Amino acid sequence: MKIHTTKNYDAMSREAAKIIAAQVVLKPDSVLGLATGSTPLGLYAQLIDKFKNVNLDFSETRTVNLDEYQGLAPTHPQSYRFYMDENLFSKINIRPENTHLPDGLAADPVAECARYDALIRSLGGIDLQLLGIGHDGHIGFNEPGDAFVNNTNLTTLDERTIEANKRFFASAADVPRRAYTMGIGTIMAARKILLLVSGEKKADILKKALFGDITPRVPASVLQLHPDVTVIADKAALSAL
Ligand code: GLP
Repeated sequence: MKIHTTKNYDAMSREAAKIIAAQVVLKPDSVLGLATGSTPLGLYAQLIDKFKNVNLDFSETRTVNLDEYQGLAPTHPQSYRFYMDENLFSKINIRPENTHLPDGLAADPVAECARYDALIRSLGGIDLQLLGIGHDGHIGFNEPGDAFVNNTNLTTLDERTIEANKRFFASAADVPRRAYTMGIGTIMAARKILLLVSGEKKADILKKALFGDITPRVPASVLQLHPDVTVIADKAALSAL
């Protein structure tokens, strides 16, 4: 595991953008696993900048996102499809048909999970998976539990996650209770993993994830077992180490 410390959020975003840009240049048809939340917004802005100013070409790139809320339409401003279109896809030259997320409106959740796993397999797996970390140690929406779940699954969100994510909704009651997420097995099968962490509020959970016991109670701790993880964290996020 490599840990890069940066002085602040902007520097973290710039470092991350260099890694993703290099991946896309070296392998234009890369399969990028993408994440949502506040953390990657600066990175996405940097990638848009590289597309506009240095012609970083996404025309062959494929993407699969980690997760999606159940019950939200792609046009819902808080759906992750809307977030991705708004913050990245509509501003670069990626082909819309090459961008994938779980379908929050799928009628049959079991079939939807199987479809998403089959899709990732059909793309040849994930070359580089971008991750953030939740306050409870979740990655994607893999919440703390008794066991690591391997495949894409429909999960019930923890109260802590609902609390953390309510800032995007009118109230906590409006946050969907369930979400589709790639499983831990799929994330761990990615050839490279890039974990971004910013801010003092993540310092304790980051310390547990990187140096604590490997346990499904801290889902991100499983990353200690992956052979190619790069963590880019600002000083504040690393302040508990
Ligand atoms: C959400 C997403 C995660 C993300 C996490 C942290 O719950 N499902 O993929 O990593 O929140 O979000 P933030 O970056 O806003 O702290």
